[in-house]
Amino acid sequence: MAKILDGKLISQKVKDEITNEVILYREKGLRQPCLAVVLVGDNEASKIYVRNKKRSCEQVGFVSLEYLLTEDAKQEELDFLIDTLNSDDTVDGILVQLPLPKHLDEQSVINRISPKKDVDAFHPENVGRIMLGNPLFLPCTPSGVMRLLKEYDIQISGKECVIVGRSNIVGKPMSLLLLGENGTVTICHSRTRDLGEVTRRADILVVAIGVAKKITGDMIKESAVVVDVGMNRSEGALCGDTDFISCESKASYITPVPGGVGPMTIAMLLQNTLTAYKIHMNI
Ligand code: GUN
Repeated sequence: MAKILDGKLISQKVKDEITNEVILYREKGLRQPCLAVVLVGDNEASKIYVRNKKRSCEQVGFVSLEYLLTEDAKQEELDFLIDTLNSDDTVDGILVQLPLPKHLDEQSVINRISPKKDVDAFHPENVGRIMLGNPLFLPCTPSGVMRLLKEYDIQISGKECVIVGRSNIVGKPMSLLLLGENGTVTICHSRTRDLGEVTRRADILVVAIGVAKKITGDMIKESAVVVDVGMNRSEGALCGDTDFISCESKASYITPVPGGVGPMTIAMLLQNTLTAYKIHMNI
């Protein structure tokens, strides 16, 4: 039976560390760190994510600013808001919740955010820094996975690491972080010929494809570490991209959904906001 990689527990530990650091700065008379979150339109999932981010900011003593634009917002309106937030010295981090409505140019919005306030680490400058091994910020979900592995003393060096999914948000940066820790990294995607044959090689398997219960127990190696980034709804219940029951009996460690990677992503966003604050305050 697999041990649980408890993202809820570890994210609380990260939040406690951040809370204590913020208290120290406040005792010195410094202002609070501040995250500005921009939500455009009515995507229900996005609204929930934004609400959770706001609540988490407040828990650790950050100022949380929320900007809600309507579904039909113009590109110029969003550009103007980002320019305003970029030049506001009391705003440390800017996060534009994705996806944006179809008529807006997502990449141009990302490019417009100051790289020093880009707490998602989506700006090309930050992506380049990660690629070169000199990051300002680490992308939240992959760095949450890395922190989880570290907390449970799971060694990466020399291990077969297989990632299922090649998104810019998770799969690609995940591969760079695991490579940075000397893992032997393979990325699978929709054109991979025999997915099970590749996933069965993995000592560490990270799944981020957005397909409910796609990875089943027969597709993993005995004692594999299984990290599930998925968040799907199946028959009314939340579930990941792995079939928890059949994988749990075979894996050595596994993340639950919910309560695994999700809370870690938010904790890393808070950590990036604190990093941005320290950059702006010259701490
Ligand atoms: N939408 C889904 N995940 C993310 C994320 O990590 N950051 C942003 N900005 N939008 C998202």
